[in-house]
Amino acid sequence: MKNRVIAFAGKGGVGKTTSLALFLKYLLERNNKDILVIDSDPDANVADVIGHEVQFCDTIGGKMKVLKDKIQSMKLSPNTPKGQLIESDVYNCLIEMDDFDLLEMGRQEGEGCYCFINDVLKKVIDTLSKNYDITLLDSPAGLEHFARKTGRNVTDLIIVSDPSKMALHTLKRILEITDELQLKFETIWVLGNRFPEDLQMILEKEIIETNRENVKLLGFISGNDEIAKINLTGGNLLEISSQNTSYLQAKEIFSKVI
Ligand SMILES: Nc1ncnc2c1ncn2[C@@H]1O[C@H](COP(=O)(O)OP(=O)(O)OP(=O)(O)O)[C@@H](O)[C@H]1O
Ligand SMILES: [Mg+2]
Repeated sequence: MKNRVIAFAGKGGVGKTTSLALFLKYLLERNNKDILVIDSDPDANVADVIGHEVQFCDTIGGKMKVLKDKIQSMKLSPNTPKGQLIESDVYNCLIEMDDFDLLEMGRQEGEGCYCFINDVLKKVIDTLSKNYDITLLDSPAGLEHFARKTGRNVTDLIIVSDPSKMALHTLKRILEITDELQLKFETIWVLGNRFPEDLQMILEKEIIETNRENVKLLGFISGNDEIAKINLTGGNLLEISSQNTSYLQAKEIFSKVI
């Protein structure tokens, strides 16, 4: 198993970060090493749910702001190889946790054009993820990053939906956009989070109606008090009980991916 890049997408608040954390717990429990987690959500969600605080200056956004300010105020000679600076900034941003590495993208602050920086960043991160067996990617809510064609090397896209019309709408839009942009994923999985049992067939029907071979139902994770509590009190989702019902469901469905 080499180089799987698994991205979580979906409407805001549907449970992308929570599902990613449960997936990560599953991988760690299986003793998978060589895992990179990229949090491309500007609000640094992943660090929050694993009880790790990250300062803005230690995120890619923070480092890139410093670099952009230097470029704009001409503090760097025109001959400075900026690509290399960006690359070393990315490596310096890697947070080494016990059994995985974490990269926090952070916000892009200040005015001015980030195009060049973003272009290089994309390449550096694509290269970086090749050094790991498994990369988990927490995408920001919405569709914009698809339009920017980030994550071209994603193998598995997991679209999370909760039982709401808006979440289903976002799911459909993501499928349309990935089609329009001809983004190639090996599999697009649909994960139903917090679906009561009697509503699950609605999501199942949606998937059948997409009529696409590579779109598959991953399964369902139920709403859970322990998860809600950990989130509210700022605990660590990786420390959730291994017997927790939602975690057991997560384990079972994620074994379809890896
Ligand atoms: N299965 C669940 N059981 C209980 N609470 C849940 C569950 N899934 C998600 N939540 C709660 O719902 C809220 C939103 O979840 P989460 O942060 O994972 O969503 P998200 O899609 O990452 O949101 P955002 O778009 O803001 O990044 C959190 O407070 C989380 O604890
Ligand atoms: Mg999130």
